[in-house]
Amino acid sequence: MSDSHMKGNHKPLRIAVLVSGNGSNLQVLIDAMQAGVLPIEIVGVISNREDAYAVTRAKEASIPVAVLSHVASGKRMGIKTFETHASAQLTTWQPDLIVLAGFMRVLSAEFIDNMPAPMINLHPDLLPAYKGLDTHQRVIQAGERYHGCSLHIVTAELDAGAVLTQALLEINPKDTAVSLQVRVQKGEHQLLPWTILLIANGIIDLNHPHNDAVPSYLPALPLKLWLNN
Ligand code: GRF
Repeated sequence: MSDSHMKGNHKPLRIAVLVSGNGSNLQVLIDAMQAGVLPIEIVGVISNREDAYAVTRAKEASIPVAVLSHVASGKRMGIKTFETHASAQLTTWQPDLIVLAGFMRVLSAEFIDNMPAPMINLHPDLLPAYKGLDTHQRVIQAGERYHGCSLHIVTAELDAGAVLTQALLEINPKDTAVSLQVRVQKGEHQLLPWTILLIANGIIDLNHPHNDAVPSYLPALPLKLWLNN
């Protein structure tokens, strides 16, 4: 990340977003960028699904989109081919930050280690508790009292990189996996822009995401948002 971002001034943070689905989190970033409330420029979107609504959202906002469909002409695109195309595309766009927002393919260690910029992922749980899929169902089954979402640095091990920020909510007795999904997603829509603001302003330094790198006026990572939804 350049010094200008560290000091929280001047050039917008160049962001590439990887998606697979609806893209509501992408939309939050598009809206914030267009409203001028986040110092970002979304330089491109990569989708591994042609039918993802996120693709439509990006096109409507005139953001460059690369669709690297995992099934093209009936043939499945292997992860290596996907990664070769995605790497080339990211190198062209030169992002400062890569955001996985609802991106559903597991990436290889080689790809992750060779990214041109730090990469963060939005995960629908309070990591490190529930990695992987079906998190809402699993927290209910386990009788958890709290739930939420996390933004973490992407490393080769799935959902295991340093957790930067979390949004927390209290589970109600009436909550179901569906209601939790809705509540958590509302949290994601706050957590993602908030975290990107902290990154853009140099408060969270992705190159040194450890506690001792956080300014002394901030609590240790992960920084937490409490949700009242
Ligand atoms: C989010 O809930 C995220 O946590 C999960 O996928 C969902 C993406 O939602 N990994 P959207 O595509 O941004 O609407």
